[in-house]
Amino acid sequence: MISLQLSGRTVVVTGAGQGQGAAEARLLAEAGARVIATDLASEIPEQLAAISSPSVGELVYRQLDVSDADGWQRLADWIRSRGWQVDGLVNNAGITQRSRLLDASVTDLQRVYEVNVAGVLLGIQALSPLMGNGSAIVNVGSVAGLTAHYPVAYTASKWALRGLSQVAAMELGPRGIRVNTVHPGFIETPMTASARPEFRQATLAETPLGRTGTVDEVAGVVLFLLSTLSSFVTGAEIPVDGGQSGHGGAKSVSDAMR
Ligand SMILES: NC(=O)c1ccc[n+]([C@@H]2O[C@H](COP(=O)([O-])OP(=O)(O)OC[C@H]3O[C@@H](n4cnc5c(N)ncnc54)[C@H](O)[C@@H]3O)[C@@H](O)[C@H]2O)c1
Repeated sequence: MISLQLSGRTVVVTGAGQGQGAAEARLLAEAGARVIATDLASEIPEQLAAISSPSVGELVYRQLDVSDADGWQRLADWIRSRGWQVDGLVNNAGITQRSRLLDASVTDLQRVYEVNVAGVLLGIQALSPLMGNGSAIVNVGSVAGLTAHYPVAYTASKWALRGLSQVAAMELGPRGIRVNTVHPGFIETPMTASARPEFRQATLAETPLGRTGTVDEVAGVVLFLLSTLSSFVTGAEIPVDGGQSGHGGAKSVSDAMR
């Protein structure tokens, strides 16, 4: 049956301790899923503790550093030991790094790649063996991966993630596992709270909807991509960015010509 409901389905969300990941964990549980919410902290983060007994679905917390292959294996073993399979994986964990082209070091690149690219590869390698026909993976990219966003290491990592996602969609498709990517624009989270005011203003000027997005607006698209409503959608990339990436830089010209 085609539905937004995730009852009876188990979904792993990475970086679920705050921001978009926490909102995704909450919405997926509300849709009836058993959510395995993971993050770096050993104890359940405050934001998740507040939603750890959803009225429908279920939420359990596990510590996971997505760049740690052994950690992924331990998570897979734990899920297997419970007799569960994995129906959804949301590779949400990500870090930013704001150095500019001529200042970025190889270490900067490696640090972001370790989480934003290798973390996703490791997750797919560890959990796809537990996934069957009808399951789905959602990778969280960024408008940075669609544009020449200035923080070069972060931007390069999100472009790389697009390639990884497309290979995964191709390779896992025959097993009935869908792989899609969402590309958030400026979303209000702890990550963007540390951005300079100039960044906020310049981004708003390039965003046709004229506002920043909320974590719930990203979570809704993630739920759609995990649900059977999107059962023939794979290898797709959906910007959730208020139109920021769609105009190809023409907005400032259009605004200037009014
Ligand atoms: N907020 C935005 O405007 C925006 C825009 C585009 C893309 N994104 C992407 O969305 C995702 C979520 O971003 P957010 O704004 O909610 O960020 P956030 O910094 O508020 O939250 C990220 C979470 O990931 C966790 N995390 C970091 N490194 C980890 C690791 N190695 N292993 C496991 N967990 C780790 C953090 O502990 C944190 O809980 C990221 O992939 C980010 O790149 C965010």
